[in-house]
Amino acid sequence: MIGSGYGAAVAALRLTEAGVPTLMLEMGQSWSGGASASFCGMRSPDERSTWFAERTRAPLSSFLWMDLANRTIRRHAGVLDRVDFDEMSVYVGRGVGGGSLVNGAMAVTPRRDYLAETLPCVDVPEMYRTHFPRARAELGVNEIDPDWFETCRSYAYARLSRKQAHRAGLATTFVPSVYDFDYLRREEEGSVPRSALAAEVIYGNNHGKRSLDQTYLAAALRTGYLTIRTLHEVREIELEPDGRYTLTAREIDAEGTLLGVRRFGTDRLFLGAGSLGSTELLLRARETGRLPGLSTEVGRGWGGNGNVMLGRANHLWNTTGRLQSAMPALGIDNWDDPEHPVFAEVAPVPVGVETWLSLYLAITRNPERGRFSYDLATDSARLCWSAAQGQPAIDAAKATFDRINRANRTIYRYDLFGGTRPFENRFTYHPLGGVVLDKATDAYGRVRGYRNLYVTDGALIPGSTGVNPFVTITALAERNLERVLAEDVQPARSFS
Ligand code: FDA
Repeated sequence: MIGSGYGAAVAALRLTEAGVPTLMLEMGQSWSGGASASFCGMRSPDERSTWFAERTRAPLSSFLWMDLANRTIRRHAGVLDRVDFDEMSVYVGRGVGGGSLVNGAMAVTPRRDYLAETLPCVDVPEMYRTHFPRARAELGVNEIDPDWFETCRSYAYARLSRKQAHRAGLATTFVPSVYDFDYLRREEEGSVPRSALAAEVIYGNNHGKRSLDQTYLAAALRTGYLTIRTLHEVREIELEPDGRYTLTAREIDAEGTLLGVRRFGTDRLFLGAGSLGSTELLLRARETGRLPGLSTEVGRGWGGNGNVMLGRANHLWNTTGRLQSAMPALGIDNWDDPEHPVFAEVAPVPVGVETWLSLYLAITRNPERGRFSYDLATDSARLCWSAAQGQPAIDAAKATFDRINRANRTIYRYDLFGGTRPFENRFTYHPLGGVVLDKATDAYGRVRGYRNLYVTDGALIPGSTGVNPFVTITALAERNLERVLAEDVQPARSFS
């Protein structure tokens, strides 16, 4: 198994439950237990925040045009990475648990009609009957107590955004979460150490969040059949004449020193390195002739889930509050808009002072897709995505938020993303696609052209889920693994 995010964690649990010894290679660190147990917060990030960089690279890059969020740091195997392509940057989690370590915990189930449209080979009723409930239960999804939401201090910012959205005639909805809302309530009461209320999110949470290392991966480890090797980056996949796969991985220490190049053999290989990671591994294998029979579909169908970030300036009498939960709990649901569907999470600005800023991450329906190519000179995947391809996402976000501004006589913030642009769509938190289901793989994630080779992560989803994606990635992996276990896997396979 390569990687340890949502797709990989599902595969690890289901394989090990079936008695299959499983080795998981993860390029990041383990953050549960041991010397590197604690994450740093967003207000004073240190080397634990960022994957091998001299300076942190927070998504909200400026405030009043000043770079207040970022710090100079020591190069280290930190938990959040930003992979920069020419006209798009992609944030990803690095560590045992992948994106679950750094994400906002929003656990949203997609709309049935949109799932049917994006993944036509999937039996949609079966997904909602079996695999979404299974995924939500294993992930530990919970809902906020609506009475507490109305009175607590830490969601004043969300209540203000809700009022302003309603004034514009827009619907809002609570967002389920894998952050324990009961823990959050106790944070606000002062009876437990703060995490969401201490500006912890994109660089990890020390408390409260049910990340994969506490759910799927913990359960897989309890079977006794899972071994996890950290700080192992897989670079190459080869097929041996006997049908086994050989992986070549670089092992480093947390400061980046190369400890060695290791080789692993396996008769069955699951790629769960995420949209970027799994796509790059297969592209490299195809283009260097190691797996020449891979489909030309590998590298296609990439999208950033139409992500657009934006801020609105509030009137002085509309305060957002100094104490803000770093875990979003409310979304503006304008997905039924026939021209410009938008699902926008009301995002926190947990800086500890009043900012009069309302921040949003809008998910839009952008039909544009990017494509990866393999760059021999750098031995890496290059994403072909132009700024112009992001324009439909901005148009959609603008249509919704122009309505909110008109209804509330407010304006956009122009100081948040460097320059004077009010909309930021040059980065995404939600990379999806590259090895699309039923195109580069069969309808269950088996990679076309090779036996016993599977993709199990966000690379399978063609660019868009219409909501935050990890519940969909998890449920799809559950569905695929059920089939693969029934048809392909005999217990007691081995790795060496
Ligand atoms: P994922 O990216 O989780 O895991 C891949 C793992 O593979 C990583 O640990 C990586 O280090 C490892 N890897 C990669 N290449 C490797 C190699 N060659 N060798 C070894 N290991 C390798 N979603 C959501 O639904 N709700 C939310 O609130 C948010 N919020 C959010 C905030 C932020 C800041 C980010 C960055 C992302 C989110 N997301 C989110 C997105 C969500 O986290 C994301 O969609 C999933 O983590 C993707 O799951 P995957 O299984 O595809 O891979």
